Order: sequence, then structure tokens, then C-alpha cells
Amino acid sequence: MDIHLQNEIRAAAGKRRTFAIISHPDAGKTTLTEKLLLYSGMVRTAGLVGSRKNAKLATSDWMEMEQERGISITASAMQFEYKHAVINVLDTPGHQDFCEDTYRTLTAADSAIMVIDAAKGVEVQTRKLFEVCRLRKIPVLTLINKMDLHGRPPLDLMAEVEEVLGIHASAINWPIGAGGQFVGVVDRSSRRVSLFKKMAAGGAAKASRRQIPLDSQDLKSLIDQDLWDQVTHDLELLEVAGNAFSLDDFLRGEVTPVFFASALTNFGIEDFFDAFVEMAPSASPRIADTPNGEEITVDVVETPFSAYVFKLQANMNPRHRDSTAFLRVCSGRFERDMVVRHHRLGNEVRLSRPHSLLAKERTTVDVAYPGDIIGIVNPGQFAIGDTISLTDTFNYKPLPQFQPEVFARIHPTDVGKRKAFDKGMVQMAAEGTVQILRSLNDLESFVAAVGKLQFDVLQYRLRREYRVEIKLDLMPFECSTWLVGDVKTFRPPSDAMVVKDQLDRPIVLFRTPWSKNFAQERNPHHTFLEMG
Ligand code: G4P
Repeated sequence: MDIHLQNEIRAAAGKRRTFAIISHPDAGKTTLTEKLLLYSGMVRTAGLVGSRKNAKLATSDWMEMEQERGISITASAMQFEYKHAVINVLDTPGHQDFCEDTYRTLTAADSAIMVIDAAKGVEVQTRKLFEVCRLRKIPVLTLINKMDLHGRPPLDLMAEVEEVLGIHASAINWPIGAGGQFVGVVDRSSRRVSLFKKMAAGGAAKASRRQIPLDSQDLKSLIDQDLWDQVTHDLELLEVAGNAFSLDDFLRGEVTPVFFASALTNFGIEDFFDAFVEMAPSASPRIADTPNGEEITVDVVETPFSAYVFKLQANMNPRHRDSTAFLRVCSGRFERDMVVRHHRLGNEVRLSRPHSLLAKERTTVDVAYPGDIIGIVNPGQFAIGDTISLTDTFNYKPLPQFQPEVFARIHPTDVGKRKAFDKGMVQMAAEGTVQILRSLNDLESFVAAVGKLQFDVLQYRLRREYRVEIKLDLMPFECSTWLVGDVKTFRPPSDAMVVKDQLDRPIVLFRTPWSKNFAQERNPHHTFLEMG
């Protein structure tokens, strides 16, 4: 590859910050995204992503709304510049239930921002998403949000992150005051204080920020003595008992840098974003398998264009009935209308009509670099996990499938709609909305998902896109496992059921986690796999 092109790719990949925000609903993910747009100059006043009140409507209204807004019904991505960096935010759905889309989206990220509500601490969904980051060794930055409200003491929150998530937490900055008295943050390494003032426009405009050394006499006249005493006391304590920060440990996923802010009032937000672009990794290399079974790390710069599909979304615009494949660019330079090898199909495809998204607007992409996400209009040739590339034959690692936790028997209410139903189900399974399981004798099939919301999505989309009403009878199982070992010698508990997945791999459904543990103890020569 010519040296100029290599330099261009190296520079562009080095600027990319491709990340996802992980949090429990209501912690402030949407607000933080808005503020990132505000501080990057993409919008002049915050509020673009939409009113949050509306997002709390019933599921189907919510989906309708999200679709009309054009972003985030399920995960998509936005791109914009922040200072010297090019930001790619992968949007993960903000609803209560989990879906595989969220997991898969995380595979396309190079880092994650974990937003924690200062009053609530580490909540259940945050914990699950954090686990996925840990499994994939994705570095995580922590933002303790809502510092303008009465919350828990910062030291408690740090301890909770460490205890509940099992990761070292290292405070990069420290809050001055909390609740109504939250007036600033101190950067621990430079001992520089940022003091904030509310603007008349509230959080819709950037907060005014004044920076001043912690040890300056002026500071004492600007903040209350109690606040000064408290913050110096905490800082001393952190020096003695806190974890040191090391960029390498962070990049390895062994320590999470912690920041304090209020996304609503913008206090601490710019300090956080500035640190984020400094610390977060640029486009990182991915692992792939070669045709002869070797594992290789694909060089971001030297390998010509390659990418993989991490998400499919059919019918984003019901008027056009189009379907979009979202690709993560892993190496080289992408150009519009490029003809690439589609490894699974063994043929060549032209990548025409590539686009990226900012809210409703689709922008055509002419070139893209490692770390970028592009949407390609997909006339059916892409499946999740597909690798495409300009020259090579390696395949990026298959995307993980998670153990389903809800199961149902399903059929169309009108038997005349069987064909449309089957077509819809094939599409939904290809997109990963649900998994389809079959009995070992192939006579029966079931649907399975990680969270119940996926069944609502299934029902809604079959109705809207395929005009099929379905009847769904939930089955009494609440956990499952892929089974490695001989199915014939496996002795399941009497209330369990052995079925197979789309790839004919055995999967066992259990009524309770207890029954699953019992089965594992009873079958020591079989292995239970957490992920398929
Ligand atoms: P999510 O995407 O993680 O679900 O959270 P979202 O940003 O929608 O925030 C949830 C609620 O918390 C919103 O209030 C939002 O305004 C509020 N919020 C977010 N960050 C902060 C913060 O730093 N401080 C305070 N005080 N509140 C914050 P809402 O009343 O549900 O919605 P809205 O009427 O404000 O739109």
C-alpha cells in the first residue's frame, strides 16, 4: 500500500474514538449524548435527541417515536468531531430489558462510558453491560452523574464500583460539594480546579467554567470554607488509599478512571469529554481467523479495507422497506462504490449507498476509516457477523450469542398468513431479534430471547412490516445453556428440556437457576457454555 495512503489511514484511525455508553435506564445516557453534541458544536442548544418524557411511553409508541426520530430504535451510530477527535457514538437501546443488539453493538466499540446515577450507585443493567465489556476487554470510563442532586458520598460510590464490578477505580477528578452545593471539580494530577456557573439558559447552553489552581488563595475566597476543607481532606485520603491511574491498566480493562459531573447542568462535562478524548483508545485492531484456522491480529493501517457486520436493521423507513447492514470498519480505507469480497458468500459486492447517521439525517459517506460505522443498504446479502474485505480471506471472530432467558411457542393467528409469518421470522432471526429453537426431532419450533422486550419487538414488527398477528404462549423456562458433550448421555432434570439452536447445537432449557446448577452437578462430564 502506498505510504501516503498509509499515513492518511494512520492519522484518521488515530483520531477515532468509537464508544458506547452503558448505563441503567434514567442514569443520564441521553442527556450525556446531547451534551456531547452541544460541546462538539453540532447543536447550539441541547435537546436534539428528543424529549425524554416521550421516551417513557408504552413500548410500541416508544418504538414508533424512536423510528421517526431516526436514531436508536435499536443501536445505530452518530459521527461528529469533538476538538481534535472524530467521535463515533454507538447508541445502545435505553429500555429496561436486554437485547442481543446491545451486546453486539458493544463488540463494535473500542471503549465504553459507564454512567452511574450518584444517588443510585451501580444498578443491575449497568452490571450486566459491564460484564460484557469485561469479557471483551473493552476499557471503561466511569462518569458519576447527577452530582447536582443529593446523592451518596463519592467515596462510597467508588467503593461500590470496586466491590460490585470487581475493577479498580481511580478518581481522575473529585467533586467540590454535592447537590445544590456542587460547584466544581478538581483534576487530581494537575490540581487544577474547574468552577462552574449556571447559565440563564440552564443546561441547554454550555456552563461557564473558570479554571484556577487548587492551591491559589483566590480559590478560598470563591468557595465556602467547609467545601474547601472537605475536598482537601478527601484528596489527601485518595492520595494515601486510592488507586493510582495507569493508562496501560485502563486500556487492558483493569482500572476504570472515575469522573464526577452533572450532565443536566453541564458542570464537569467538558472536563470529562476532554479527558475522554485523551484517554480513550483510537481504532483498535481486531482478531480474525484465517482459512487454515490460525488466529491473527489484523493491522488497522497495513491491511487494506476490511469490516464486519455487527447489526442488521430491516425496514428502518417503512415507506422504502429498506434494510441496513451496519459495518464496523476495522482496517484500511473505505470508499464509496468499492467492490469487496464477501467471504461467506464467496462473491463480490459493490458497497453503494453507504451512509452514517446524525439524528434524522443520513449523510452519504464517501470515505471511512478504521473505527467508523457505516450503514449499507442491504438487499439481503448480509448476515450478522459477515466479514467483507478488499483482498483478504480472514474472518473476524463470530459475534457472541447470549443464553436466552425467555421462551415461547408462537404461531400466526390467521393460518392464511403462514408464508408472510415464515418470511418475517427468517428476517427477525437473521437480525438477531429472536433466536429460533427446534425440538430434537424437528417437529416443533420455539422462539427464544434474552429479554421479554424482544418478544414485544417481534410482535410489533411482524404486525407492522409483515401484516401478521401472532399468538405467543410463554413457556415456563427461565434460563438455559449450550451443552458441550454427548446429548445421549446427558441426564437432564425432569423439568428441563433439551432442544437445538439454528446451528443444530444442543441447548438445555431450565425452569430455575437451581435446576441448572443441579444439572451441572449431575453431569460433570458435560460442559455448560455461557455464550454460544
Ligand atoms: P437515560 O437516557 O439514561 O435513560 O436517562 P436520561 O438522559 O433520559 O435522564 C433521565 C432523567 O434524569 C431525565 O429527567 C434527565 O433530565 C435527568 N437527568 C439526567 N442527567 C441529570 C443530571 O445530571 N442532574 C439531574 N438533576 N437530572 C439529570 P426526566 O425528568 O425524566 O426527563 P426530562 O423531563 O428532564 O426530559
